[in-house]
Amino acid sequence: MSYTAIRYEVDDGLATVTLNRPDVHNAMNDAMRRELTDVFTKLVTDDTVKVVVVTGEGDKAFSAGADIREFVDVPTITGFRENRKRLDFRQAMDRCMQPIIAAIRGYAFGGGLEMALACDIRIAGDDAQLGLTEINLAIIPGGGGTQRLPRLVGRGKALEMILTGARLKADEALRIGLVERVVPAAEVKKTAHDFARTIADKAPVALRYAKEAVVKGLELPLADGLRLEGDLSALLRTTEDRLEGAKAFLEKRKPRWSGR
Ligand code: COA
Repeated sequence: MSYTAIRYEVDDGLATVTLNRPDVHNAMNDAMRRELTDVFTKLVTDDTVKVVVVTGEGDKAFSAGADIREFVDVPTITGFRENRKRLDFRQAMDRCMQPIIAAIRGYAFGGGLEMALACDIRIAGDDAQLGLTEINLAIIPGGGGTQRLPRLVGRGKALEMILTGARLKADEALRIGLVERVVPAAEVKKTAHDFARTIADKAPVALRYAKEAVVKGLELPLADGLRLEGDLSALLRTTEDRLEGAKAFLEKRKPRWSGR
């Protein structure tokens, strides 16, 4: 599939997905949703990619959310079916074993913020503005926002944001745990790529299991989560890379990971 609404680049194990409709602040239309579904579905089974960075083209926006022009085109019943389909690319993101980092400049509203919420780590520029603004259009977040936001910032803060459609500045987003880092706007993409590179240099299987233990564990009762962590730890103790990590430390050299 060739992409028009996004760009997809891979460089030495690091994939970058760029939302690419800068004329409309990278608003998400059907083409973009289809392309994102395709790219993340492929990433689920792509062992060559270690880390994914998601960002928006230009310096104005990560994404201003769903393309509102499509709202007036669609008859109600079709709209209902389309709305169900919109969940797909974020569900494909959920299935990705690779850590996914959002690099956010400017606006991240509605579906744009929901996409950032489906990422594992969010790095924002000091020019970022973030909000689930759907309520202003008489709808609710339909791309996972009502579920992922309270899991990240707590029930009260999530409801405050969703019921008012508030647009938070970067420092406030950092304070409530909506983003993990705030850096000068011009440095966002470089910071995200440097951070991704640091992660990509770790042993591949350990990376996958670390993400799985945290993400799946959060959905489980503590005892089951600890059991999952124990199982994944036991599996990792059988890998060649675990031996290589110890040897490299003792021999005072960089480890050479085999991914086995
Ligand atoms: N869907 C479709 N088009 C959008 C859009 C969206 N979500 N957000 C912005 N655009 C378009 C604008 O219509 C405008 O197009 P035009 O040049 O043909 O008029 C262009 O992008 C630039 O936007 P503009 O509003 O002129 O820029 P701004 O810097 O003054 O304001 C925003 C930017 C993001 C604050 C404002 O566009 C906005 O509030 N957008 C809607 C955000 C939203 O509610 N998202 C949730 C959707 S569920």
